[in-house]
Formats: sequence, structure tokens, C-alpha cells
Amino acid sequence: MIDTMGLGRIGAYRRLLGLSRRMEEPEPESARVLCVASGKGGTGKSILASNLAALRASRGERVLLVDFDAGLANAHLLLGLAPQYDLSHVMQGQISAQDALVEGPGGLKLLSGGVGRHVLANPTRRELDRLFKALRPLEGEFDLLVVDHGAGLGYATVTHLAATSTLLLVTNHEVTALSDSYALYKRAHLVNPHITVGVVVNRVPDQAAADSAWERFRGASQRFLGHSPELVGWVPADPAVSRSVDARVPVGLLEPDSDAARAIQSVSRWAPIDHARSARPFFERARSALR
Ligand SMILES: Nc1ncnc2c1ncn2[C@@H]1O[C@H](COP(=O)(O)OP(=O)(O)OP(=O)(O)O)[C@@H](O)[C@H]1O
Ligand SMILES: [Mg+2]
Repeated sequence: MIDTMGLGRIGAYRRLLGLSRRMEEPEPESARVLCVASGKGGTGKSILASNLAALRASRGERVLLVDFDAGLANAHLLLGLAPQYDLSHVMQGQISAQDALVEGPGGLKLLSGGVGRHVLANPTRRELDRLFKALRPLEGEFDLLVVDHGAGLGYATVTHLAATSTLLLVTNHEVTALSDSYALYKRAHLVNPHITVGVVVNRVPDQAAADSAWERFRGASQRFLGHSPELVGWVPADPAVSRSVDARVPVGLLEPDSDAARAIQSVSRWAPIDHARSARPFFERARSALR
């Protein structure tokens, strides 16, 4: 009885302060969002993003993969799809976001980024705002959005870094990739101090190379920034990946017992993906970050 009264009083305080449950905790009807990014190009973002999306979809989640490598998209190729519409059509109001989706392996849905679309290469603030507004309703229809980005710190990517609760940073073990990943990590923290960042070292020859790459990254982050991301895992260089690209089927589904697929399956179980929500829906935060 006393407890109940106590809780009631806390509730009243919260209402007084305007701290509704919704503001403290994410809206349950809003999808979790995992952004996948890298500093350097070609590190394996699209391989990781498409496999994570397919694996989680095949486990029963409603998953949407958004290919935000806008204008140079290739997630559809990795999934064996030929979408008629893409982000450019949504941005220009020619079609709703829902109508631009196509279904892919494991039951995932894809919103393609379009290939060679000039409007997506250098979007203005107003154009991105229109696009994010059009994408917002999708968050109510999925459990998880996986957002694949182009390499580097483009306008849309930085906006997403500011909006997301959770980022998967894909790097390789070479010093060039590590250096660019460090730059992206630093920027992500600058625009979003509460972001959770996990690192995947992809296409690695062996465990020793992965360990040494991670130690370099972690050491530099700790020394210069005073914090470091989490190591989610490493994925070996594996010819099964190349075969899966040729077959246009994610390696996690095509050759689930290959070394790369096993490593990616483990990445797909990274615990923060199950909690990847912010207090406000992702595309609303992204719109605010444009201002
Ligand atoms: N673990 C791996 N083992 C072998 N090959 C790999 C592995 N990961 C990626 N690759 C190869 O690297 C190529 C590039 O990967 P991917 O397209 O995912 O990179 P990306 O980071 O998305 O590139 P971009 O910056 O251009 O978007 C793939 O086509 C694939 O053949
Ligand atoms: Mg890519």
C-alpha cells in the first residue's frame, strides 16, 4: 500500500516535470535502428549490413534494410533484387516510402539507394528533411532498421550519426582503414556523446591481425579521447563471401557453416542491437540534427 502510494507520487512528479514514460523510454512502436558505417570505402559495410538484416529477418524480426549509400547503392545486388523505386523517388515525392520497398532473403525488406541518381549524391538540407519526413512512418512498421551508409562523413551519414543510438563501425586491419575509422568514431562521439559504438574488423587474415588491429584502435581511442568503442568481433577473409556476392545471396544464408558466416552470425547477436532505440524516433532526431 505504502509502495503504491510512493509510486503514485513519483508518477505525479514525473507528470509535473513533463517527464512522461515516453520521453524517458523509447516509444515501443518505434523500430530499433542500427547504423553501419566506415571511414574508408570497401571495408565490408554492405556485406555486413545485408547479412545482419537477412539473418535477423530469418529469425522472425521485421527488418528493413535502408541502403543510404545513396546514388551508389549496391545492397540490392548483394540480395539479388532489382527494385523499381529507391530513395530518390521517395525524396522527390513520386512514391511513398512503403511503396518503394521490395522483399528480399529471409523476408527482409529493402529500400534501395538508387544507382547513379544525381539528386541523392549531394542532397540539400531541405531535400534530406523531406526524405527523413517521408521515411519516418516506416519506423512504426518494423522491429529493426539496418542503415547501410556510404564510406566517410557525408552530410546524411553525419546526420544519422547524430540521430542513432547504436553504430556498427566496419574496418579492416590495415592502418589506413583503422585511421579513417578512428576519425569517424571521433566525429560520431562529437555529434552524439551517448552513442553506443561497436567495431567489426572485417576481411582479416587471422586472429593475430585482428587482435593487433583492435589493440591499435582501442589504444589510440583511450589515449586521445579517453574512451573507446566495443569490439563486436572480427570476420575472416573468406572466399565464401566472394561466392555469395556472385550468387547474390547473403553468405549467412548461402554458406552458413563457412568461417565468415559464423563470424557474421555472432556479430548479428551483438546485444546492443536488441536495445537500439533513442528517446525519440530516429528520423525525427535526424531531422532535428539537420537544423
Ligand atoms: N570477409 C570477407 N572476406 C572476403 N571478401 C570480403 C569480405 N568482406 C567483404 N569482402 C569483399 O569486399 C567487397 C566490398 O565489400 P562491401 O561492398 O561490403 O564494402 P563496403 O564497405 O560496403 O564498400 P563501399 O564503401 O563502396 O560501400 C565485397 O564485394 C566482397 O567481395
Ligand atoms: Mg557499401
